Amino acid sequence: MMYFDHAATSFHKPPQVAEAVYQSFGTIGNAGRGAHAPTLNAARLIYDTRQKLADLFGISDASRIAFCCNATESLNTAICGLFQPGDHVITSVCEHNSVLRPLYRMEKQGVEISFLQADAKGRMEYDSLEGLYRSNTKAVVITHASNLTGNITDLLRIAEFTRRHNLLLVVDASQTAGAIPILVEEMGIDVLCFTGHKGLMGPQGTGGIYVREGIEILPFKVGGSGVHSFDREHPSVMPTALEAGTVNGHGIAGLNAALTFLLETGVEEIGKRERALARRFLNGVKNIPGVILYGDTESEMRTSIVTLNIGEEDSAQISDILWEDYEICVRAGAHCAPLMHETLKTVRQGAVRFSFSYFNTEEEIDHAIAAVREIAEEMGTELP
Ligand code: ALA
Repeated sequence: MMYFDHAATSFHKPPQVAEAVYQSFGTIGNAGRGAHAPTLNAARLIYDTRQKLADLFGISDASRIAFCCNATESLNTAICGLFQPGDHVITSVCEHNSVLRPLYRMEKQGVEISFLQADAKGRMEYDSLEGLYRSNTKAVVITHASNLTGNITDLLRIAEFTRRHNLLLVVDASQTAGAIPILVEEMGIDVLCFTGHKGLMGPQGTGGIYVREGIEILPFKVGGSGVHSFDREHPSVMPTALEAGTVNGHGIAGLNAALTFLLETGVEEIGKRERALARRFLNGVKNIPGVILYGDTESEMRTSIVTLNIGEEDSAQISDILWEDYEICVRAGAHCAPLMHETLKTVRQGAVRFSFSYFNTEEEIDHAIAAVREIAEEMGTELP
C-alpha cells in the first residue's frame, strides 16, 4: 500500500510514537489529581510535552498552550470564545469547515464576517485586505495553508495588517504545524490552533491552542480542573482555563515522542523533503494529457499537497481506481473546504488530493505518477 493522505492524518509515524503510547498505559494516572506516582508521571509528561511544543513554536511561556483533542476543538474554542455580537471578523475562502462553521454559528449570534477572496489558482487576494477593514473589525482568522491546494498563506503580510490595525491574528495551522517552521511570537500570531495527528506525527485525539498573554478566551468547555473545586467558575489561569476534564494523556505520550523526533530532525528538514517529493510528483504528472492541476503549482510557497483531476472524471471514481488497482490512498471529494472548491470551480467534480510525508519514498512517487498516467490514458482524456 502507498499512503498519500497525510493531509488528512499522518499514517507513517516515527515508531517511538506507538511505543510511547503503549508504555504510557503502564505508567500514567490522571495529571493534577493527586500526588501519587502515576498522577505525577502524567503531570511530568504533560509538562514536558507542553514545553516541547513551546520550543517548536517559539513560545516563551509554555503555560500559554492548552491541549485540545484536535484543531477543530481549538478553533471552536478560539472563534466561539473571542467574539461578541457586533464584532467583525475577516477570514478567507481558503478555509476548512472547522473555521467556517464556527464562524457561521457566531454569525447567527450577530458577529459579522468578510471573506478575503482568492484567484483561480487559489491565491489569496492580499491587496483587497485593506478594503475589508471596518471600525468594528476584531480579528483575522486564517489558515496557514489550504488543505485543498497546498498554497501557503503569506502570514507576514497578514500580520503586518493585523498589527497596523491592532487586530487579533488567529491562525489555523492544521496543515503546517510540523511541516513548516512556525515561530508564533516572532510572526505576530496571537492565537495558534493546531492538531497533533498530521504534521506533528502524533496520535489522533491530540492538538492544542496557544493564546498570547493578555488575551482571554471564554472557554468552550468548563468542568473538572483538579483545582479550586469549590468555585462555581472554571479557573481562568492558562492552561487550566482551556483544559476542562481529563486530557488525552496516552495520546500526549505519543505526541511527546513525535515532538522529540521533530525537534531532533528539524521541521525545516522534514518540510524540505516533503516538498521535494511533492515537486517530483508535480513534475511527473503536469504534462500528462488530461491532468488538471489546482493551486499555485509554480510557487515554492507550498505544502506537500498536489491536487488534480483527470479530464471531467468524478474525483471519487479516480480515487477508487487508485485504491482498487494500485493500492494508492488519496482523498477525493470536497475536503471540507466548500468555498475553495467554489473558487476553483470544482464543486461538482471534487478533486483528487495527494499529500506526501517525510516517510514516503521516491519509488512510491514514481509509482503514483505511472498510475496517474495509466488512468489518464485509459480514460482517453484530452488536454483541457
Ligand atoms: N481536514 C483533513 C483533510 O483535509 C481531515 O483531509
